[in-house]
Parts: sequence; C-alpha cells; structure tokens
Amino acid sequence: MEIVVSGIRPTGDLHLGNYFGALRNFLKMQHQNNCYFFIADYHSLTTHPTPEDLHGNVKRVLVNYLAAGLNPDAATVYIQSDVPEVAELYLLLNMNAYVGELERVVSFKEKIRKQPNNVNAGLLTYPTLMAADIIIHRAHKVPVGKDQEQHLEMTRNFVNRFNRMYNVDYFPEPTAYNFGEELIKIPGLDGSTKMSKSDNENSCIFLGDAPELIRKKVMKAVSDQGPTEPNQPKAQAVENLFNIMKVVSTEDTYAHFSDLYNTCQIRYGDMKKQLAEDIVIFTTPFREKILELSADNEYLHKVAYQGAEKARESASKTIKEVREIIGFKPF
Ligand code: TYM
Repeated sequence: MEIVVSGIRPTGDLHLGNYFGALRNFLKMQHQNNCYFFIADYHSLTTHPTPEDLHGNVKRVLVNYLAAGLNPDAATVYIQSDVPEVAELYLLLNMNAYVGELERVVSFKEKIRKQPNNVNAGLLTYPTLMAADIIIHRAHKVPVGKDQEQHLEMTRNFVNRFNRMYNVDYFPEPTAYNFGEELIKIPGLDGSTKMSKSDNENSCIFLGDAPELIRKKVMKAVSDQGPTEPNQPKAQAVENLFNIMKVVSTEDTYAHFSDLYNTCQIRYGDMKKQLAEDIVIFTTPFREKILELSADNEYLHKVAYQGAEKARESASKTIKEVREIIGFKPF
C-alpha cells in the first residue's frame, strides 16, 4: 500500500485554492492508501502568530478538514507539533542541506521580496522541514497544488542525498500527486494567478464564507471591458473567472459563458452572478458542517489525540531507524 502525506498551514479557514489544489485529492485518496494529513503549525511560526491566533487557526483547519470529509478513522489526521520526531528529523536533514540551494528556492526569494523585515532562518529552511514532514512516514505520494512542486523536488534531493551518503535505500522518492493530471493552481479574484490569503485576503473565497460575503467578493472581482472581436484571447483576470467557473459550475454553464465571450455578447455582471451562486451552492454544505463542528471541542480533542498517537507510532519508528543509520548507537 502506498503511503501518502500532505499538510496545510493553519492560517484560518481553507480557501478554494486549498480545496481544489490539495484537500480534494486527500479526500479521494484516504480510503485506498495509508494516508497522513496534518496541520503544519510549526511552519506557520515563520509569520510570528500570537498564541491565540495560532491555536484558533489550528482549530479552524482541523474543523475545515473534517467538514470537507476527511475521515479520521480512515486516515491519520494530526497536528504537526504533536509529533516532535518531525523536529528531530528536520534538524538532521538541515546538516546536509546547503545554504546555496535553499537560497535559490522561489518561495524563499518571494518571501524576501514581500517581507524584507522578517527573513528568518525558518523561512530559509522551510524546504527541509517540509521534507521532514513527508519522509518521517517514508511517503511515496504528496497531494499538493502546483506551487509546491519545487519543494517536492527539494525533498527528492534530500532523500537521494541521505540514501547515497549512508549507502542505504531507506527513503522512497516522493512525488507531488494529482491523479495523473497536472498539478493545479486556482487563481485569485483580484486578477492574480494564485488565490492566496497571505497576498490578498479579498481575492480568496473561504469554505466558511457566508453567501452574502461570497456574492460581494465575486461581484467585486477584477474583469475587463469585454472582448471587441470574436474568439479574442482572454485577459488574465477574465481567464481567472473562467477557471474558477470550471471547477465550481456545471460544464453547460461554463460552455454557455464561454460562447457568450467568444461571440462578444458576454456581460460580466451576469457571469459573476452565476459564478457567485454556484460557489454558494458548492460551499454551503461545508459552511454548515464547519459551524456544527466548531462547537464540538470534545470531538476535536478526540480526533487530534487519536491522530497524534497514530502519527507518532510511524514517526518514532522512522527516527529510531534513521538514528541507527546515522550512527547514533547506544553503548
Ligand atoms: P499552504 O498551506 O500554502 O497550502 C496548502 C495546500 O493548498 C495548495 N494551494 C493551492 N492549490 C491550488 N491553487 C491555489 N491557489 C492554492 N493555494 C494553496 C498548496 O499547493 C498546498 O498543497 N508547504 C505547504 C504545507 C506543507 C506541506 C508539507 C504540504 C508543509 N509540509 C508536507 C505537503 C507535504 C504549504 O505552505 O501549503
């Protein structure tokens, strides 16, 4: 059976990008594989959350996971910091991770640009922590969105380096996974190519958003003046609206607005109204479940506790074996 690992940073409710890029894949995989899905709370410390925000956001992601249908009896659902073996493996991997290669990672360069006042060592070594998350369970597949591709490539580099250095075939080479399809990237409502909370919260639709808020955000989404000739290539912002429509609306609806665009008859107001209603229909069951689960602290505690136990069982086995391979041996 293949081992699958993936995680999401706790930054609040999950948005459509998280859902279609990662969560939907988790849901499809949980019954056929040995799956570990976690909340990456160590990772989120790079942005220095307050203790209240950190705890609240971990809870929200756990609730969102469960509301979306992650089944804690089928998969191991846990919180990263409940498994300190991850931190030990991170330390060990850092010894063989080179500053030069870490500095070349695109997400690190972006962070330097966006938050020059907080370029911490955790950001630089983000790919080694992510590799530790994955290989602590000796995973084969990692369901993620397109933006994580380079991190997965780094994980393979660390795996190969470790196996070569100690002359073992211990860690498998994990691959980013989306059911044989291309990895996907859901665009933002602000004309940007990626829906991202840290870039612009208003460009995101969250699974827990109320219908009125969804309508407001979608009606404000960036578009353009409309096509002036048939079959004109779409501007990025318009392409974005169509791409979101592709994942939440029916094929007929998508084809209808696509035809209107190609024949220069489109009215973006109509398209946005339809898109907003389709998003509301799509997110309503999630929102209802989120509200219900948020009030059930006892159940959340049980899920987190049971997940931590199962995850630690697998993680401590790996750490024990890695320690032996490296040469930490009892006297
Ligand atoms: P994070 O928290 O930024 O995003 C979580 C998951 O959602 C996907 N995603 C998207 N997919 C498509 N379109 C979008 N607009 C979009 N926005 C986010 C991401 O690709 C990701 O799969 N480093 C990871 C968390 C992590 C992890 C791991 C993942 C830590 N350790 C180990 C897998 C395995 C991250 O920051 O994702």
